[in-house]
Amino acid sequence: MLRIIEKQFRKPSGFLGKVVSIIMQKGNDIAYNRIINSLEIKEKEHVFEIGYGHGLGIKKILANTNCFVSGIDYSKLMNKLASKRNKNSIYKGKVKLYYGDFLDYKIKPHLYDKIYFLNVIYFWDKLELPFNKINVGLKEKGIFCFYMDHPDELSRQGFMKEDLFNKYSIDEVIEKLRFSGFNKIDYQQDKMGYFVKCMK
Ligand SMILES: C[S@@+](CC[C@H](N)C(=O)[O-])C[C@H]1O[C@@H](n2cnc3c(N)ncnc32)[C@H](O)[C@@H]1O
Repeated sequence: MLRIIEKQFRKPSGFLGKVVSIIMQKGNDIAYNRIINSLEIKEKEHVFEIGYGHGLGIKKILANTNCFVSGIDYSKLMNKLASKRNKNSIYKGKVKLYYGDFLDYKIKPHLYDKIYFLNVIYFWDKLELPFNKINVGLKEKGIFCFYMDHPDELSRQGFMKEDLFNKYSIDEVIEKLRFSGFNKIDYQQDKMGYFVKCMK
């Protein structure tokens, strides 16, 4: 049973996926506010979210700043829910939501001022590929922020299956960020995890 739920966090689908989506919206609301704050988004900027899930983060950004947000998620259900939530902004041409795997996505070089994600890193078996893509997609001096739970917090919440969840240490993540060309890396730890902010 636990494995079925863990799979839902990785790629939500069906009725259980809708339940998991509600849990994520409530559980990650504060973390979204914090990440969006650290992105320092300005008018007309281009922003990209990886694994937008329910689309709450995108809605929050557009509620405060007149910018362009696009993103990618490989769950059909999440693409549907996020599109519904952001339908007005999609209609106005402010939001574009792609359905697909970020690891296969051909990101446009130097297009984005800001790139972010929350709770997606665990599903990447290797970090070099996604971090390199992010680096390529960012403009010079662009900002990349993300949130990840502490490995102990993931275990405490019952996410035990190493084949479904990679539990990265912050040191490992920072090493891979440096390797992918990020030089300025800051992070803050709270009781559950890490808020990481990098500049190209
Ligand atoms: C645990 S959920 C997090 C959702 C939201 N970011 C949050 O924190 O509430 C992970 C999301 O990332 C998506 N995802 C995971 N790996 C992905 C990949 N390689 N490409 C695109 N989407 C991915 C999943 O479909 C899911 O919607």
